[in-house]
Amino acid sequence: MTLPRPSRRGLLAGSVAGVAGATSPLLWVPPADAAVRPAGVHLTYGADAKRRMAVSWSTPSSVKRPRLELARGNDWGAVHQADSRPSKDVGTVYHHVDLTGLEPDTEYRYRITHGGGTPYVGSFRTAPARPRPFRFTTFGDMGVNAAAAQHVALIRSQKPELAFVVGDLCYADSSGGTGLGGPNTQDFAVWDQWLDQIRPSAASVPWMTTVGNHEMEAGNGDLGYNGYLDRFTLPGNGVHDGPVTYSFTHGNVGFVALDGNDASFEIDRNQGYLGNAQDAWLTGRLAALRARDDIDFLVVGFHNCMYCTNLVHGSDGGNRSRWEPIFDRFGVDLVVNGHNHCYERTHPMRDGVPVTEAPSGSTIDSAAGTTYMTAGGAGQAEYPTGGLPLSYVTIEGGIRVPEATTWSAITAEQHSIAFLDVTPRNRRGTATMKLRTLATDGTVLDTLTFKRTRTV
Ligand SMILES: [Fe+2]
Ligand SMILES: [Fe+2]
Repeated sequence: MTLPRPSRRGLLAGSVAGVAGATSPLLWVPPADAAVRPAGVHLTYGADAKRRMAVSWSTPSSVKRPRLELARGNDWGAVHQADSRPSKDVGTVYHHVDLTGLEPDTEYRYRITHGGGTPYVGSFRTAPARPRPFRFTTFGDMGVNAAAAQHVALIRSQKPELAFVVGDLCYADSSGGTGLGGPNTQDFAVWDQWLDQIRPSAASVPWMTTVGNHEMEAGNGDLGYNGYLDRFTLPGNGVHDGPVTYSFTHGNVGFVALDGNDASFEIDRNQGYLGNAQDAWLTGRLAALRARDDIDFLVVGFHNCMYCTNLVHGSDGGNRSRWEPIFDRFGVDLVVNGHNHCYERTHPMRDGVPVTEAPSGSTIDSAAGTTYMTAGGAGQAEYPTGGLPLSYVTIEGGIRVPEATTWSAITAEQHSIAFLDVTPRNRRGTATMKLRTLATDGTVLDTLTFKRTRTV
């Protein structure tokens, strides 16, 4: 197996304080077309979310001098030439500008265009240098559909500062990494439909995405991730040879994005490709984040379900056996999964058992146990709720083993999006993270308050 393509982030960074970034690679350049507008605009934090942001967009074909201008206040500053990437089986070209040297907690405006084109103007805010209250949203399994479009509007109305998206993004490859279904399972034009669908939110707040089984596209690189990597500029600070893993902090929360496909027993397409390297990297990252005085909550995201009663996919014993001891060791507060197209949340857990009851509306001491959430209801058709009081976990070899589900606190079959409001420590040393899970129409399906107290 050849190695996956490395992150291009380090090679293509354009310093705000310095000169413009690298010029675009040689691509066929048609005559300038003023009717061609930048589409699918989306943002991604860099590893240092306070100082680095990637702006990505697309055009239907190659264009002359795709570029971004940045403004703080009213003055447009340096011009950054885009890194332009073609992708498999589409004429669309994806443009990326990786901005570095930004100021923390600062509003920037950006203007993207190309030779003779009509500009697109947007704005974003960098992450704060010190903890302050903020909101983030998390979900997976969106796809391109009416519910997903409604959820983008809901997300926009809730004004989160970032989205943490746990895979199965657009379903351009409907075979889901199984290799079943033949060539008719792929339509890579769906990526553009999805990027246009999320633009009302993703052009102004970063969408920090992870891979699901549907990002393992047949024929698109050894791991199938090339289609995803062509369209996103990721932080690039994850495990070596694991280009879709990364971590970043925002305020008092440390976020870690894992590749759940590497550890899945259910779908073995990319099973074990990182050996034990992802586990070692995860251990190091969580240790470093837990050691920081300014970090209270650790939130880990990946696609496959660690704990879910839904009978379509159940729980994945591969992810559970490899990562639960690590999550327990460092007291991870919240693990977000998708894959099952439903909503579910566990009681706080240690060593595979609930440490307390946590019904909707309750407050938990988050240091006592890790909460596992399935937030797979962002748009794809819902899976029927099932599995209580008996579900199953998939063990090595893809075998489904029945198990009791006393750990399940709440399930919901309808579409949903989760929002979390985070506050820094108060004078008594207590930080809070308040979960609200909303249905498509904004109805509250679940709430939970995480508390963590640090005394000096
Ligand atoms: Fe899915
Ligand atoms: Fe999935």
